Amino acid sequence: MGERYAKIVGWGKYVPERVLSNHDLEQMVDTSDEWITTRTGIKERRIRGPDDTTSSMAVEASKRALEVAGLSPKDIDLIIVATSSPDYLLPSVASIVQDKLGARCGAYTLVAACSGWVYALVDAHQYIANGAYDTILVVGSEIISFAVDYTDRTTCVLFGDGAAAVVLQASEEPAGVLSFELGSDGSGAEFLYVPGCGSANPLNEHTFERREQFIRMNGPEVFKFAVRIIASSLKRVIGKAGLLPDDIALFIPHQANARIIEAAARFMHQPMEKFYINLDRYGNTSAASVPLALVEALEEGRCKPGDKVAMVAFGAGLTWAAAVVQLGTGELSPAYQFFSLGRARYLAKKAAYAVQDAAQAALLPLYTFVQRRGRRKRRRK
Ligand SMILES: CC(C)(COP(=O)(O)OP(=O)(O)OC[C@H]1O[C@@H](n2cnc3c(N)ncnc32)[C@H](O)[C@@H]1OP(=O)(O)O)[C@@H](O)C(=O)NCCC(=O)NCCS
Repeated sequence: MGERYAKIVGWGKYVPERVLSNHDLEQMVDTSDEWITTRTGIKERRIRGPDDTTSSMAVEASKRALEVAGLSPKDIDLIIVATSSPDYLLPSVASIVQDKLGARCGAYTLVAACSGWVYALVDAHQYIANGAYDTILVVGSEIISFAVDYTDRTTCVLFGDGAAAVVLQASEEPAGVLSFELGSDGSGAEFLYVPGCGSANPLNEHTFERREQFIRMNGPEVFKFAVRIIASSLKRVIGKAGLLPDDIALFIPHQANARIIEAAARFMHQPMEKFYINLDRYGNTSAASVPLALVEALEEGRCKPGDKVAMVAFGAGLTWAAAVVQLGTGELSPAYQFFSLGRARYLAKKAAYAVQDAAQAALLPLYTFVQRRGRRKRRRK
């Protein structure tokens, strides 16, 4: 039996209808469309409507991904939701998503800030590669606007809400995650953080007064970190996959700032056309950013079956995550698929053990008889 790969078989997205443009922000803080466009590349972002929650957006994106995959929620073996803006502190938003979808499986929420979805993709890849599960839903969903201070011009222009989901399924075709890197440097925690809300500094009237429920950021420090980590981690994962940057059909970077991506492209000696960008329309959607870019790239035909794409995310923590992913080349024959799936392998092994047990049980009396006769002969001698 060959290796098991986690092939992408479905993808979908959901973005709220409400658009917050740079011109809208000009009415809210001392900024300009010109400053935001030239310093970040962002023109507009989506902001949650009254009925949108992180779980509802995750469910919408997931339904679309399942439709593309031709699967039902009952086919899912595990759900991982990457987010930093869950519906509640408890329960885990992944359980809300599991219930709303009508899935019957385990579900957990993964927090690694904007790198969360790539972390989740790597988790899912491991479960499939080691035979634990066959079908996993990996979602990134964020209502990050709830943690944005719309009186702080240095942060409020950057972020937006959105969700995207991908279905991974076991396959023997070399596809899915070919290599990855997960990173964390907690010494940079204070470059991007929310000081209040957590158990170290619970929300109260003082934290509210100091507006500590909102994101604080040292933009230039995060900028320097991002440029360095995008190029270096991409180079490492591409090398680990035994490839060269030229072998990558499309780079899917975290959609934080077009200038960060341009600088990384220069370090990589790769043309900007190979870097997918949709931050002009959505801004930074945190853990939803990379999957939202991947889904749109697939929908627009920017990458095709068999292509190798390289993804990279970075964010609070500071964290980063990069992966080289090969897109599947199409469906394998049902018989091949049947034998490549973990359950079939498990059933085949179980049947083999049963035959072995039956053979042992049948041969045991004969074995005992031969052993006893041998002992008797030895004693007589
Ligand atoms: C935030 C960011 C766009 C700021 O760009 P920058 O070129 O570094 O700008 P600076 O922070 O040095 O600020 C330059 C000036 O613009 C001003 N400024 C900041 N935000 C502004 C805004 N929205 N509109 C107008 N002026 C603004 C600053 O106050 C500063 O003015 P000063 O020189 O009078 O003090 C940039 O640092 C960045 O993108 N950093 C990474 C952020 C990120 O990716 N975060 C998420 C990670 S997941």
